[in-house]
This record gives sequence, C-alpha cells and structure tokens, in this order.
Amino acid sequence: AQSVTQVTVKTDAAAPVISRHIYGHFAEHLGRCIYNGIYVGDTSRIANTNGVRNDIIKALKELKIPNLRWPGGCFADTYHWKDGIGPKNERPTIVNKWWGGVTEDNSFGTHDFLNLCEVLETEPYLAGNMGSGTVQELADWVQYTNFGGKSPMSDLRARNGRKEPWKVKYWGVGNEAWGCGGNMTAEYYAGEYRKYATFMADWENTGGLVRIASGANSADYHWTETIMKGVPINMLGGVALHHYSVIDWAKKGDGVDFTEDIYFRTMQSALKMEELVTKHSAIMDKYDPDNKVALVVDEWGGWYEVEKGTNPGFLYQQNTMRDAVLAGATLNIFNNHAKRVRMANLAQVVNVLQAVILTDKAKMILTPTYHILKMYAVHQDAQLLPVEFTSPEYVYDNQKLPAVSVSASKDQAGRVHISLVNIDSKKPQTIEIPVQNLGIGKATATIVTSGKLQDHNTFDTPDKIKPVDFQKVDLKKGTLRLTLPPFSVVMVEGTK
Ligand code: AHR
Repeated sequence: AQSVTQVTVKTDAAAPVISRHIYGHFAEHLGRCIYNGIYVGDTSRIANTNGVRNDIIKALKELKIPNLRWPGGCFADTYHWKDGIGPKNERPTIVNKWWGGVTEDNSFGTHDFLNLCEVLETEPYLAGNMGSGTVQELADWVQYTNFGGKSPMSDLRARNGRKEPWKVKYWGVGNEAWGCGGNMTAEYYAGEYRKYATFMADWENTGGLVRIASGANSADYHWTETIMKGVPINMLGGVALHHYSVIDWAKKGDGVDFTEDIYFRTMQSALKMEELVTKHSAIMDKYDPDNKVALVVDEWGGWYEVEKGTNPGFLYQQNTMRDAVLAGATLNIFNNHAKRVRMANLAQVVNVLQAVILTDKAKMILTPTYHILKMYAVHQDAQLLPVEFTSPEYVYDNQKLPAVSVSASKDQAGRVHISLVNIDSKKPQTIEIPVQNLGIGKATATIVTSGKLQDHNTFDTPDKIKPVDFQKVDLKKGTLRLTLPPFSVVMVEGTK
C-alpha cells in the first residue's frame, strides 16, 4: 500500500510575513526580452501603450508582479542611463556586448521603464552600473529619478517630460561583480560598494533607499561573508544571490527534449536552493542578528540550451512541466525562508530563460511557470505558517531527492493557502494534514500537471497546461487528505 506523508502546519505568531517581493521578476536588455518582446515601439501594428505590448501589460498585471528588475544582468554594467533619455531619434546606439553583440537604439530607457512600472503598479528595481560607470553617474541617476526639488538632474527630467519624481526605492549596486560586472574580488567589491552607496543619497522620501549589494554566485559563501563583514549594516538594504538550475554549464540540455536523468539533475540543482539560502542566511545572521539586511535572490530559474535555430546569445528556451515543478518547489523554499529572503527575481520575464511569457510576432503565450506564479500570488504578504514533515524520497538511479515540497500561509482575510509540489516523475504522493488548529472547515484546490513532463504550451496550443480545479481534496474530521499526481503543483485554499 502507498505510504501517507503526514504534514504538520503550525500557527506561530512570531512567523514572518512572506514579502510579496519574493515574487519579483527581471527584464534585461537581452535577446527578445525588451526589444521585440515587451517593447515593440509605438509605430508597431501590435496593440501597445507607449510602445509596450498591451497583451503583456495585461498578463503581468494579472500576475500581480510586485517588482521588476532592469536593465540587467550583465547588461547593467555596460549601460549608461543618460543614453536612454531625451528625444528617441537623438539617442546614441549601444552594442550589447554580452548578449549577441546586437546594436540597440536606446529607444527603451529610464522613462519608458519607470512609466511601465507605474502602469503595472509594480516597484522598479534598478540595477546600477558599477563595472563601467562612475559614482557620479549612479548618483545622478538616483537624483534624476527621485529628487523632487530643483537640481540639475530633476530639471533635466522635467525637460524630458516628467515633472514628478518616480521615487525608486530598490537599487542594485552592480551585478555579478565577481564576473561580468568587473571580475572583482569580494574584498575589492566591498570597498567599491561602500563608496558607491555613500553617494546614492535618498533624495526623496522613499522610506529609505534599499541599496542591494551584488551577491554571491551560488555557493560562494566567502563572498557573502566578505560583504557582511566589510560593509556597515546601515549601508546595506540587501545582499544578492544568484543561482540557476543548470545541469552542466558546458552541456545544459534541451529545454523540451530531456530524459528523466536530466530532469532529476535539474531538480537536484533547483533544490540546492534550500542549502544555499540556509547557509547564506546563517552568515548574515552572524553579522546582522537583528535581521535588517535582506537576502535577495535576484536571479533564479532553469537554464537550458537555447531553442534550436535561435540566436545563441538570446537565451530563448521553451518552458515545460519541469519548469512548473521547479518554480513551485523553489517558491516553497523562499516562503519557508521568508524571515531572511525578502526579495527574489525569476530570470527572466519575457522570451529569456525561464520566462513567464513567450512571444512570436503578434502572438503571445503564458508558460506553465506563469501559471505557478499566479497560483502562488496568494502567498504575497501573507503570514507564513511553518510546516514540518519528513518527505518521501524520489529515487532515480540510486540517487535520492525529497519528493514533496510544501509551504503555507494565512492571509489577512483568514484564508489558509498550502502549496504542495510532488517532483517525483512516476509516483503519486498521498498527504494528510491535520487542520483543526488552522480554523478552516472547507477546502478547495487548483492543480497544474500534464500527461508528460515535457509537455508545454505552444503558439498553436497555448492552453495545454493551465491550472484546473482539483476535486480530489477531502477535508473530513479535521484532516485534509489529498493525493498529488506525479510532477504536479497543487494549491489548497482553506476557509471557514
Ligand atoms: O540572466 C542572464 C544572465 O545571467 C544575467 O545577465 C547575469 O547576471 C547572469 O549571469
């Protein structure tokens, strides 16, 4: 007989609120993310608002995206923001050195991005150029976007058509400084960070600029330790961390055509996030016991070979049930670590890596990953309900991974949400959760799954994978019981 996994969901008044910013996104000048993706220009035949596709605006609003990081990534440390303001036909070009060597016309710049964020009702997260920029250039950008009084930069902003400041709160100080951001050592970067951060004044009452240090590459704990030790806590709003789920950087495997072996290894890499956030958080706890500095996982997601026939520098890949499972399990990890992980950004929002939206000329589709983020939006700003359980194992070729992943929260209306993922490719998993302590008497659920792990949405079959009602949830005698099919993501909603 199949074993049953007992999950305890606890109420704990001291448990943190899950910051909505964990559900953030990332838009880089990379491939078809901005140009020919989000931005088609205002002369396009595709319906748009100031050059931004209306269908994308609608989809992102429905996703309730809390923040959007821009303009990179590696691109950020090559970007000179003053080239992207003023009359579009007078803007200089820029060669996108990291991503395909294409020439961009700078028609999508600061105003375009920040106005888009207003339309999306999302917080902008600007990544400043430390690698090839200057302290003055970054300080000017802060003044340009945030200062409400009279100053050289606010006058320039007004001349460019925007009187009121946007009040940008979140600022990255460089990106991947250990690599494309300048190949710096952690010690050198910490010194540079102090200098840059000093001149990024809080020009307007944004409630305090949140300055975020470029963070570690996966398990580079020395990086986090050096930043935490070398930078005064009051200069640090966050420390970043980047981790991609990749099986082998030299041979990443196809986005759609993959074996169980590759699936298992992808999930191994994805679930490594648990260890990474635990260990980086422990280092932060040592230097910041009052938990002031956030761990910001501002790049995460699955990274595969580009789709055959597409530009290798554009990082365009399809998105399957593997990605849905990966997203669900990763977001559960972030929720459960909400005390320290207070922001994260999936890479990337449109047409790049683990995108939530793919476009092909006038067509647009939502990926399985989109549906997971939309399902999980109920956790945004809800109070974490800590969970305890011993996961059954997903065994493949004598290797093991925890098969089941769970996180839970209670929102302000008293609704309880429990998100459950079964990563096992073959075995269903039966779960029992006592709920008397949660004050719920009714439960409904939604599921994302499909016939094959490789299934995905295409421009011809855009709705092959989407959330559907999951009837097989039983709440009797104070116990919730459900069976998760193989590779599925389920969201249970419990109400009075
Ligand atoms: O997201 C793609 C790239 O991955 C980013 O530009 C960089 O920061 C990371 O290496």
